[in-house]
Parts: sequence; structure tokens; C-alpha cells
Amino acid sequence: MDVNLSFFDLVSNVRSMRRLKPDPIPLSALRKVLQAGVQASSGQNTQPWKFVAITEPKAKHWFAERYRAAILSRFGKVNEYADSQSSMGRQLKALTYQMDHMQEFPVLLLICGQRDWPFKVPQSERVGLAPPNYGAVYPCTQNILLACRALGLGAALTTMHQVFEQELHEYFEIPDEFGVVVTMPIGYPLGKFGTVRRTPAEEKTFFNRWGNSEPGETLR
Ligand SMILES: Cc1cc2nc3c(=O)[nH]c(=O)nc-3n(C[C@H](O)[C@H](O)[C@H](O)COP(=O)(O)O)c2cc1C
Repeated sequence: MDVNLSFFDLVSNVRSMRRLKPDPIPLSALRKVLQAGVQASSGQNTQPWKFVAITEPKAKHWFAERYRAAILSRFGKVNEYADSQSSMGRQLKALTYQMDHMQEFPVLLLICGQRDWPFKVPQSERVGLAPPNYGAVYPCTQNILLACRALGLGAALTTMHQVFEQELHEYFEIPDEFGVVVTMPIGYPLGKFGTVRRTPAEEKTFFNRWGNSEPGETLR
């Protein structure tokens, strides 16, 4: 189901879709989405990503239980603050839905990054495990979100698995060489897609020095 939005419509339409139908998605769609992911750039073209697509009910339940416990341990009873009046209230409502239905979503995608020390960390300070290569995993993740939207699939970026990362590694047999950077439920959306709310780039942009919003004479 390709939607064929123009690039600029697509990019402004990739909202976090936290309410998804339990209906399965075609393997061909998942493959297409991940193929878009791996088109991303990475330092020296190392392509330091791997994906684990969780689709089996037992494994999804395992994940959902720990995800719920992680949210409750960090934020308390989020549903008590969830309402439709404020943007934060609506986000918490959607978050609560996602937490309550996580095990029903057709695919829980783990996006993993190979561990790699950033250049700025000197050899002498490289102790323990390096962080996963966030710089490469995030462009890949954004491509995946865009591809999902292009195919009419809903998806949402989540990072709460960090709270139970060790267990996650053991359960899914993920080697220490990789870290799980993002967990992304993917499925057909229950709600409608819509445009994202962002501060215009113009209000975030300076020219020639920090704080100067005037482009001057060199750009027309
Ligand atoms: C680094 C990063 C971490 C995020 N972690 C979470 C998360 O743990 N749970 C979640 O529901 N959304 C998470 N998000 C999604 C954002 O909350 C969401 O994109 C933002 O609030 C804007 O909402 P929108 O995508 O609907 O426009 C994360 C996004 C980024 C870039």
C-alpha cells in the first residue's frame, strides 16, 4: 500500500503512531522498510546496524511486561495524568495505550548499533563497553520511520528498553558487541496520520554567528 506522498508532505507527516492494530503486516512491507533503513549514511560506510524483528506472541509478551514495569518505575501511573486537554496529557494517553497493548502489535523492531568509541574518547579512557553507534543508528531509524509512513504503516520510536537492557540482551541473545538503541512497534495505525508540530526552522536558524537571524546579502 504505497501512499505516494511527495517528500515534503511525507517528512512533515511522520508522527509517533502509538495506537496500532493487531493485524499482521506483510513480510514484504517489513523488508522494504528495513531496506530503506540501510540506505542511511554511516561513518566510513561501516553500516553498524542490525535489526531484530520480534513477532512471536511469547516474546512480545515478555517484552511488553518489562516495558510496562520500566514505564511505571520511571514515571509512576502515567494514565493518571493522561487527558485530552493538553498536548502532554494526549501524549501520555497514547503512551498508556501503547504500554497496555504492546504485546498485540504485529512487530516490535529492535534497532541495534555496533559499539564503537567516539573519536573524542582517548584510548586510555576506553574502559568497559563502548556506546552503540548512535550517530549511524538514528539516520537509519529516521529512514525506517519515513518508509513506514510511505507504506501507510504506523510506527513509534521508543527508548525505555534501556531500563532492562541487560535482560533484553540475554533474552534475545544479542551479543555485547551491539547495543539496542531503539525499540519500534510497527503496525497499521488505529488513528489518523497527521502533521507534526514543530517550531519553524526559521526560528532555529542563525547566519554567520550565533544569535543573528538575518541572512544578509550573501544569500538571496
Ligand atoms: C532520542 C529519542 C528518544 C525517544 N524516546 C521515546 C520513548 O522512549 N517513548 C516514546 O513514546 N517516544 C519516544 N520518542 C518519540 C518522541 O517522544 C516524539 O517523536 C516527540 O514527542 C514528537 O512527537 P511526534 O513524533 O508525534 O511528532 C523519542 C524520540 C527520540 C528522537
